[in-house]
Amino acid sequence: MTPAQAVDTPKLPACDFMPPAYDGPSREEVLDMRREFLSPALLTFYQNPVMIVNGHMQWLFDEKGERYLDMFAGIVTVSVGHCHPKVLDAVREQNERLQHTTTIYLHPNIAKFGKKLASTLPGDLGVTYFVNSGSDANDLAIMMSRLNTGAYDIIALRNAYHGTSPTTVGLTALNTWKYPMPQGFGIHHAVMPDQYHGPFGYDDPEAGAKYAADVQDVIRSTTPGKIAAFIAEPIQGVGGTVELPDGYLKPVYEYVRAAGGLCISDEVQTGFGRTGDNFWGFQNQGVMPDIVTMAKGMGNGTPLGAVVTRPDIAECMGQRLHFNTYGGNPVSMAQGLATLNVILDENIQGRAKEVGNYLIDGLNDLQSRHPSIGDVRGRGLMLGVEIVEDKKTKVPSATRCATVHERCKDLGVLIGKGGLNGNVLRIKPPMCITKEDCDFLCRVLDIAFTDAEKA
Ligand SMILES: Cc1ncc(COP(=O)(O)O)c(C=O)c1O
Repeated sequence: MTPAQAVDTPKLPACDFMPPAYDGPSREEVLDMRREFLSPALLTFYQNPVMIVNGHMQWLFDEKGERYLDMFAGIVTVSVGHCHPKVLDAVREQNERLQHTTTIYLHPNIAKFGKKLASTLPGDLGVTYFVNSGSDANDLAIMMSRLNTGAYDIIALRNAYHGTSPTTVGLTALNTWKYPMPQGFGIHHAVMPDQYHGPFGYDDPEAGAKYAADVQDVIRSTTPGKIAAFIAEPIQGVGGTVELPDGYLKPVYEYVRAAGGLCISDEVQTGFGRTGDNFWGFQNQGVMPDIVTMAKGMGNGTPLGAVVTRPDIAECMGQRLHFNTYGGNPVSMAQGLATLNVILDENIQGRAKEVGNYLIDGLNDLQSRHPSIGDVRGRGLMLGVEIVEDKKTKVPSATRCATVHERCKDLGVLIGKGGLNGNVLRIKPPMCITKEDCDFLCRVLDIAFTDAEKA
């Protein structure tokens, strides 16, 4: 019996996939091995961590064959569905031909993927450097900005997450991810444009411009006046699904360009149609970045990232050699290209919009009935539900969030959680989910919130 089939609990939507029987080490043995042999930095969700051994589209299965609806997609990484058959076929075929070569030889996959990727981006954003992760991509984007401008200073936003490598952890502005050591030399953080908690709310049509003014102030007061770049996520993901207000990036990009800087859009979470209205998150703000970084959903789970920019900016890389052993690997290129083909051929962006809007309606309805749902926000299938002590004070409730999160798991839904205060449910599923799955999620959340609010 799956968790969601227990008496009086909503029934999981049907699924015709049967995972093979699991015959590996037990959950307890794996937990013990992790404790003994793996870094204590590794985090697990849930009081009793779940072990996941199979996946099929929007479904995950534990070692006992119990099925869960995946509402977090790894961490916003499985874009078109776990083990999507077309992606699997492409990878299987490439694995049997050639698993590894580097860019010192020609290979069709990297060339075809670069060309296809360029077709999804506007303007002259058409030159790609493939890497292995989002941190890699942001590292490279920062280096290219500094090389191009001859300036060093970078502006990022508070509450941002751009990775954990030595450079990107300096861009990241969430204390939970920062070890106490020197980092972020030359990086300055502007105010987080948070319309829920900040001084300029959802009811202020000028909020975008008002928050943007802080970027100009940071340039004036903390840099030599010339900067290398500004970097932002169109919707802050790890920070708890905080969307940049309408009208924010236009003035920010003007201030940055006036100071000689380049504009970088970190699309690691928001790219590839996830926000529904547009293929890329920056398009929701009507701006044109100079550099776009991407990873996660790009590879449907394979370690894959990229930096895309204009030819005139990319040119600076030609003055030296730059090499990445696995960047452009033929198997990850096959997986990325097959994923992109599915996204385009199966209108995944349109689906993210339609199903996402349907889910937002369901979440808004829950908000109207539950005193602890302070805010429902996001776009497409990148949504957040902020949990508070009460709606007037907006005091964050990490405890209630943890209770709801745990209960959702017991009822058959794996969902994300985050935000600096640990009080935001993050809903970012594989984009193949259906409206029926959304109905199921909302029923589960209703039960979980009702219980948490009684406690
Ligand atoms: C917006 C954003 N940028 C960069 C990264 C870093 O990506 P990676 O973990 O692949 O290094 C993440 C990871 O969560 C992210 O959400």
